[in-house]
Amino acid sequence: MTALDTGRIEPRIVRVITALALAVSVLIMVALPAAYFVAARVAVTASLTARAESAAAIMTEFVTRNPDHWLFENARIRGRLAPFVDTADRESWRVVDLAGNATALLGTPARLPTLTVSVPIHDAGVVAGRVEVTRSMQEVVGWTSFLAVIGIALAGGSFILLRSVPLRLLAESMDRLARAEAMERERAAQLAQASKLAQLGELATGMAHELNQPLTAITLAAQNALKQVERGPVNQATLAARLDRIVQMARRASTVIDHMRIFGRMGGEANGPVSINAVVRGARDLLAFKLERHQVQVEDTLPPDLPMVLGQAIPLEQVVVNLIANACDAYGDVNEDGKPRLVTLAAAVAADRLALTVHDCAGGIPPAILPRIFDPFFTTKPVGKGTGLGLSISYGIVNDMGGTLSVQSEGGTTIFSVSLPLA
Ligand SMILES: Nc1ncnc2c1ncn2[C@@H]1O[C@H](COP(=O)(O)OP(=O)(O)O)[C@@H](O)[C@H]1O
Ligand SMILES: [Mg+2]
Repeated sequence: MTALDTGRIEPRIVRVITALALAVSVLIMVALPAAYFVAARVAVTASLTARAESAAAIMTEFVTRNPDHWLFENARIRGRLAPFVDTADRESWRVVDLAGNATALLGTPARLPTLTVSVPIHDAGVVAGRVEVTRSMQEVVGWTSFLAVIGIALAGGSFILLRSVPLRLLAESMDRLARAEAMERERAAQLAQASKLAQLGELATGMAHELNQPLTAITLAAQNALKQVERGPVNQATLAARLDRIVQMARRASTVIDHMRIFGRMGGEANGPVSINAVVRGARDLLAFKLERHQVQVEDTLPPDLPMVLGQAIPLEQVVVNLIANACDAYGDVNEDGKPRLVTLAAAVAADRLALTVHDCAGGIPPAILPRIFDPFFTTKPVGKGTGLGLSISYGIVNDMGGTLSVQSEGGTTIFSVSLPLA
């Protein structure tokens, strides 16, 4: 048997099981010697009483016959009572008168502790004296002690068994539960990653476009510099300006690529202080092309000095990307009436929480589907456009950070609110 690890079990449960095991063990410990002692005492009392009663009957007859002299008939009384005395054991017999004077003594003095039975002797229906039998209980007490030792051993064993077996079973099932939970978390993380990659895939076209711009600028600047070099004497200042532009554009391109790489990375980091401003900036960068394509403007009303929240930057960016992307999708691909399409981002701090809201006026969410939008795989978008995982995963991400994600949609406007604990 390996050592019992109760670390995972709630201390209260360990205490209750220990107390129950202890109670049952104490019962076992006490029950065995106690039951023996009571039974032995009853048996001894019965045997003594039966013999004392027989002796008393003889004495009654004896006294009736010699009412005045019986007190002095010591030898004869002893002779009469001798057959009743158990000589194998230490018991002492006394016949006493009403004043308590002993007229006859038989047997051997009983060793302590003793048990005494006393039966009346009658003379013409009136009590004239008593037959008293005292027997040593030493043997009974000895056996009781012996059984008490066995009881202690049994109780010790039963305590260990009664305590460790349930606790072990409990610890095992809690281990199983913890393993299942870990597996469940792993599955959820993989699903979140899959959904993020799907989103990234959707944004890749835009990213390619965004990369094209610095690459074109780099090509242009390099071509111009080349021409300049071919023309003859080089103007150091213009050449330096061209090269500087190349460096800047290359940096911009690598920033875009880095961002995509970091965003696509599998999560698993611990909670820490996160700037919501930076998260929103990152999400807007990733969505720049999609926003442009849908002709959606982002109105960012976030105060620049927002306090940090407690969470993880990349998963939060995933949440914000999904909320803004959903708003873009709700506005649709083509802007038929040419009216401005606005997504408003706002943030407010109340108590020890920060609430980020994403607000659009794209027509709202029909009440019939509102209760289902956080369900996994629920989507109203055509196959290939929506996975239906965005909101369900966002909900899980925010929840894991100790925050909440809620929605309000009425009168054609929708507001998603992400509430997070402050760092
Ligand atoms: N801002 C919004 N306006 C209207 N409907 C929305 C909005 N955000 C989400 N929805 C609805 O919720 C559904 C689920 O969204 P989501 O979980 O992100 O999955 P997906 O975007 O892949 O469909 C969407 O298909 C859409 O019907
Ligand atoms: Mg979505």
